[in-house]
Amino acid sequence: MPPAGGLPTNDEEGVLAMTGRYDEVHARSLRDPEGFWAEAAERVDWYRRWDSVLDRSQAPFYRWFAGGVLNTCYNAVDRHVERGRGDQAAIIHDSPVTGEVRTLTYAELRNEVARFAGALRGLGVAKGDRVIIYMPMIPEAVVAMLACARLGAIHSVVFGGFAPQELATRIDDAKPRVIVSASCGIEGARVIAYKPMLDAAIDKATHKPEACVVFRRPQAEATLVPGRDHDWDAVAAAAEPADCVPVAATDPLYILYTSGTTGQPKGIVRDNGGHAVALTWSMANLYAMAPGEVFWTASDVGWVVGHSYIVYAPLMHGCTTVVYEGKPVGTPDAGAFWRVIAQHGVKTLFTAPTAFRAIKREDPEGRLIRDHDLAGFRALFLAGERSDPDTLQWAEAKLGVPVIDHWWQTETGWCIAGNPLGIELLPVKHGSAARAMPGWDVRCVDASNHEVPPGDIGAIVCKLPLPPGALPTLWNADDRFVKAYLTDYPGYYQTGDAGFVDEDGYVHIMARTDDIINVAGHRLSTGAMEEVLASHPAVAECAVIGVADSLKGQVPLGLLVLKAGVDRPHEEIVTDVVKLVRDRIGPVAAFKQAVVVERLPKTRSGKILRGTMQKIADSQPYKAPATIDDPVILSEIAEALGAVGYAKAGTQS
Ligand code: COA
Ligand code: AMP
Repeated sequence: MPPAGGLPTNDEEGVLAMTGRYDEVHARSLRDPEGFWAEAAERVDWYRRWDSVLDRSQAPFYRWFAGGVLNTCYNAVDRHVERGRGDQAAIIHDSPVTGEVRTLTYAELRNEVARFAGALRGLGVAKGDRVIIYMPMIPEAVVAMLACARLGAIHSVVFGGFAPQELATRIDDAKPRVIVSASCGIEGARVIAYKPMLDAAIDKATHKPEACVVFRRPQAEATLVPGRDHDWDAVAAAAEPADCVPVAATDPLYILYTSGTTGQPKGIVRDNGGHAVALTWSMANLYAMAPGEVFWTASDVGWVVGHSYIVYAPLMHGCTTVVYEGKPVGTPDAGAFWRVIAQHGVKTLFTAPTAFRAIKREDPEGRLIRDHDLAGFRALFLAGERSDPDTLQWAEAKLGVPVIDHWWQTETGWCIAGNPLGIELLPVKHGSAARAMPGWDVRCVDASNHEVPPGDIGAIVCKLPLPPGALPTLWNADDRFVKAYLTDYPGYYQTGDAGFVDEDGYVHIMARTDDIINVAGHRLSTGAMEEVLASHPAVAECAVIGVADSLKGQVPLGLLVLKAGVDRPHEEIVTDVVKLVRDRIGPVAAFKQAVVVERLPKTRSGKILRGTMQKIADSQPYKAPATIDDPVILSEIAEALGAVGYAKAGTQS
């Protein structure tokens, strides 16, 4: 299907897609990665070119563009002003609940970023220092990120839906000199006060930041702690604008914490050089965007999708990016996305399938689409969770543009497998994230690291070295990086996803191989939730599984075994643990249900059979593993889950 809005043609800046068909482009990227990415690096401005495109000397720690010197903020902002885009919109902030629409041109963005960078410098922030950003979807969040990049400081954005305890964990790991926050966020119809959560997190944390900067919004007051807290407007007004600080390509740009299998999140490190090259490449070649066009990612700056495709990639490519502080439904209705696309001339939308499931549920006929002129809309990209074929086909039929599922992770920073619209739109196979992107050598292997035949299920791994943009390591945790990603499948990066690669090379991602679940496109650790449940005084043992949900894809469900002698009503304990998870991890965990059981099914070596319980809950056929301690427990579990609306037709095969 050709894109309705037409594809851009090469412009005078020559920043559009590489020529050639997908097969040739991908083959070349693996045959000659250095040549391939050196060519892509021409689209980035460097103060000093690299000594080696790929430094393999410290393998498995690979370094892209070693010796190169650049500044990511310069590439995202200043160079566009210098080359005539000063009056073009860089950011359109659209906040449907407050009714605010605000545009910042590239020139305005440069001035705001330079000033705020000066303010951070005034508070002692220098190259290599960490700054935590805990902010809602307002342009100041983007300004704060870019200001850090400008100084060579390392930002770590924490999603607003996390509770103070999670923020405290990140403060203790990143040890920020400064924290930047806001008085509140707008979450659907609610005003969420951020400042009390920030104060509580700093109280809980062992590390104390030297200063906090708070952007005060009219919807909520924020009390500033004298000597520590500063008002954004006041510090920015008093600051001298700061210039871009040259940094090494291999210096960290940011740390982004993501769920691991325990309560201790992993600090994914992103470098400056590889990131700039890969993301700029992706805008033209994957997303088919030309500079000057409007790109909209409906996500949050707290997630990797927001880092890459709300902030860095569109700006580095000279596009206009939409910062949307609303929901797909309820702000005010299921036509919100169509209104934004039409009003701001959006060419390409990127969001999670769950957003489309929410819209489809409220407006199954897509009637609200007809109220808006979407003639210029070119393509929809979906990621964050598997695109179920129903939702994908619904979007195709209602929008009449290519709908592209693409697969990636916080770790990779950009797409591993997708359909490169800028190069060639490959035939779409519903349920598959299409083909490996250049630089990605995707394989499907068995437990002994042998490739399985096409179509067979296995672990999805990527041959090393990974392309630019992917994580070089974990923050202050090289050993954990090697252990978590590079040890089980020597020579490969372990994605943690399972699925298959079919005979046409299409990648199908089906499930996680670890304890991570995907709730409304948000990645959550069941292990972290179990740690919280286990801390309840009545709970002897517990498990958390992800059960199928028609809106969010999955939602967590807790199974609790109580300590002997506990005689409180079960409902009270369930209410307690639901509150506990909300208080400790945050509302984003969407943990709303738990059930008390007599015992948990385990193998003889004591491993809890979470996968089997998940199948039972989802009414799928399941098999009692040969190593099970006592198969009778599975029937007890089916009964307990049946009582709370799951395990309708679970059959033991
Ligand atoms: N600050 C504070 N709370 C937040 C928050 C934030 N930034 N983001 C979410 N929350 C809260 C929600 O209000 C909700 O709270 P509740 O339990 O009191 O209702 C809870 O966290 C769970 O949020 P979510 O799972 O997003 O559910 P939802 O019902 O609010 O919305 C969707 C469901 C599908 C509409 C929403 O998830 C969505 O728009 N997703 C698509 C885009 C996206 O974010 N993708 C992520 C990565 S690409
Ligand atoms: P995150 O790191 O939060 O971006 O989550 C990454 C995980 O989300 C991946 O490891 C997958 O399990 C899942 N995921 C993301 N995109 C897709 C997709 N297009 N298809 C299937 N799973 C996906």
